[in-house]
Amino acid sequence: MKIYVTEDYQAMSRKAANILSAQIILKPTSVVGLATGSTPVGMYKQLVTWYEKGDLDFTAVKSVNLDEYVGLDPTHEQSYHHFMQTHLFDHVNINPANTNIPDSLAADPKAECEWYNQVIRQLGGIDIQVLGMGHNGHIGFNEPGDAFELETHVVNLTERTIQANSRFFSSPDDVPRQAMTMGIKSIMMARKILLMVSGEDKADAVMRAFTGPVTPQLPASILQLHPYVTLVGDKAALSKLMETK
Ligand code: GLP
Repeated sequence: MKIYVTEDYQAMSRKAANILSAQIILKPTSVVGLATGSTPVGMYKQLVTWYEKGDLDFTAVKSVNLDEYVGLDPTHEQSYHHFMQTHLFDHVNINPANTNIPDSLAADPKAECEWYNQVIRQLGGIDIQVLGMGHNGHIGFNEPGDAFELETHVVNLTERTIQANSRFFSSPDDVPRQAMTMGIKSIMMARKILLMVSGEDKADAVMRAFTGPVTPQLPASILQLHPYVTLVGDKAALSKLMETK
């Protein structure tokens, strides 16, 4: 695993954007796995800036998003569809037909997940998967205890995740209780992983994920077994992990 420790959030965002843009420049037809949450916002902003300068071209890029809430209208401010439009897709020349996110309003979310697995296969798999991480070590919406062998599936969100994500909603009651997420198996099949972490509140989870046992109780710990992980974090988030090195 390659680890980049950066001074702060902004430098983490720039480093992650560097890595993702290198992928796109070297392979313009890349399939990029994208993530939402507050962590990658600065990375998307940097990518948009470089696109506007003419340094990046998304014409042939294909994207697959990690996860989406069940039942939230795609136009809802907190839907991950809306997040991707606002932070990236509306500002670069990616072909909307080349972007994929599970359909939050699918009548049958389970069937939607099956279909999503097919989409990833038909694209030939993911070249690089961007990940953030929850405080309980969740990646995508793979909560502690989720089976490692799953591909895209429906999950019930834990109380901790609902509370953490409620900061984006008017109240915790408004946070959807279910989501569709690529499973650990889907994530592990990506050729490369780019994990981003920021802030002292993640330091404990990062340290346990990479120094402790590989266990479904801490989903990110599975990344210890992936052959090509780049961890980009600010020094606050990596403080405890670096103490162990
Ligand atoms: C959400 C998302 C994850 C994200 C995580 C951390 O639950 N489903 O993909 O990595 O929260 O979010 P943040 O980056 O806001 O800390």
